Amino acid sequence: MSENNKASRRLRSQDWFDNPDHLDLTALYLERFMNYGTTPEELRSGKPIIGIAQSGSDLNPCNRHHLDLAKRLRDGIRDAGGIPIEFPTHPLFENCKRPTAGLDRNLAYLGLVEILYGYPLDGVVLTTGCDKTTPSALMAASTVDIPAIVFSGGPMLDGYHDGDLVGSGTVIWRSRRKFAAGEIDQEQFLEAALSSAPSIGHCNTMGTASTMNAMAEALGMSLTGCAAIPAAYRERGQMAYRTGRRAVELVLQDIRPSYILTRAAFLNAIMVNSAIGGSTNAQPHLMAMAKHAGVALNADDWQLHGFEIPLLANVQPAGAYLGERFHRAGGVPAIMWELLQAGKLDGNCPTVTGKTMAANLEGRQSDDREVIRSYAEPLRERAGFLVLKGNLFDFAIMKMSVVSEDFRKRYLSDPGHEGVFEGKAVVFDGSEDYHARINDPSLAIDERSILVIRGAGPLGWPGSAEVVNMQPPDHLLKRGIMSLPTIGDGRQSGTADSPSILNASPESAAGGGLAYVRTGDVIRIDFNAGRCDMLVDDDEIERRHGDGIPQVAADATPWQMLYRQTVTQLADGATIRNADTFRQIAKVPPRH
Ligand code: FES
Ligand code: MG
Repeated sequence: MSENNKASRRLRSQDWFDNPDHLDLTALYLERFMNYGTTPEELRSGKPIIGIAQSGSDLNPCNRHHLDLAKRLRDGIRDAGGIPIEFPTHPLFENCKRPTAGLDRNLAYLGLVEILYGYPLDGVVLTTGCDKTTPSALMAASTVDIPAIVFSGGPMLDGYHDGDLVGSGTVIWRSRRKFAAGEIDQEQFLEAALSSAPSIGHCNTMGTASTMNAMAEALGMSLTGCAAIPAAYRERGQMAYRTGRRAVELVLQDIRPSYILTRAAFLNAIMVNSAIGGSTNAQPHLMAMAKHAGVALNADDWQLHGFEIPLLANVQPAGAYLGERFHRAGGVPAIMWELLQAGKLDGNCPTVTGKTMAANLEGRQSDDREVIRSYAEPLRERAGFLVLKGNLFDFAIMKMSVVSEDFRKRYLSDPGHEGVFEGKAVVFDGSEDYHARINDPSLAIDERSILVIRGAGPLGWPGSAEVVNMQPPDHLLKRGIMSLPTIGDGRQSGTADSPSILNASPESAAGGGLAYVRTGDVIRIDFNAGRCDMLVDDDEIERRHGDGIPQVAADATPWQMLYRQTVTQLADGATIRNADTFRQIAKVPPRH
């Protein structure tokens, strides 16, 4: 390594490996790294030691190819004069973890904080992919505040079934409606679903995984264009090499997350989320990331800064295409280029490239207008999240980019009452109750019903379940009514195309208004005023308080107990209460 590749200051790792005042400790720290061939000369050379936070494993298939990509990360780190040290993070497999991967985001966060804080690392590459791997990693990087860079694993290739594009998750929601309506059989359901996963990588729709990797790039935390490169493309490996190199430079230049993750960066991310038709899970995750970054972001910022932004990405579930086309059309930089030209983005935000966001975006205009629309001719106007409040909750969101024309016509176009809908509530306590009773004729669900689910928030279903996208009963599906208005204190999959009112906070299990709504109550949703209320007078609501809050399942594991004792509501990011008081803690911890 040439002299000018050396940090001009003493590195954090040198406190472990090169500490003449504590020779005994230095010896102890050094010796065991030798047993796989590392030499004391390397570790005492003053070269930056770069952690590779490895999120891939057999238990996380969406990120598993990071096990291979890490080789190119290592090459980049070595060529730039650093030393790679790879370690595993807590697995976060969205589709498989019970009761929900949402429970484990904060656990993975805690684990990574302890690693970054307690081990001799000067910087870190955060390997990301499946939904919560991105926010948990960025939350931890902010708490510790050592130089960090996000490296996405990229989406799977586009899936096809019978010549049609089939996208992750979205195919499940669409097939289950067709199955319930009797249009396809079990075999066809499975075939279509399995066809959506043709290669390594994470979900190829604009679900939570692709959204959160786009958010990392929009925030300035990954190299330009990183988020959307499909996992199987050669560019993915090349991006790994460049990311590894850049990680070393970040340490030499002492560029830390606290320098990049500003309020302006988060507002940029909110706007990008609207323009890509991003996941509703971006709301709690960005709130959580902002909280740990010490950035004041509040629930209304989604309405103020995100709602008016049009939909530009023609990608499922809000649009038609999948990850490969999106990448070829220019990916996240092309979306951001449009927003920058329209005067929406703050182009001065610093990024991990060492340049401003505006400089990164130079020449990134898309030439595929089928997939990435211009700001002047979007797929849909005002495509962000509508923020609602009322006597059912203080905060909930609705993703306007997936509200279909059919739905708008059916529910939001009553002459003289445009944008206002009143319907009778049908209330379910958790998803088992929903599945058990949705086809019960005595509920008399019709097209004027509003489906309500509670007990699905961070406390109720520890971690918060993705269940609010409830489908109508079979008899309505058979009549071609594919969605009813739904409301819930849980989340929904980022791949869902349902017009749900979700992430309601406070949740029923925390004593929010949803605890007191009853089947048969009339609920009024006023989209113009951003209100959602049960039309029940205050005395009656007060009386219902006497009935108490609906029961939820007991803690099943020690972590569920700790999670429930510490978690905040979805409006605030469902973070660990008070964990945000620990920030920028990357001093060298003393040895006790
Ligand atoms: Fe892992 Fe969608 S399930 S990315
Ligand atoms: Mg999900």
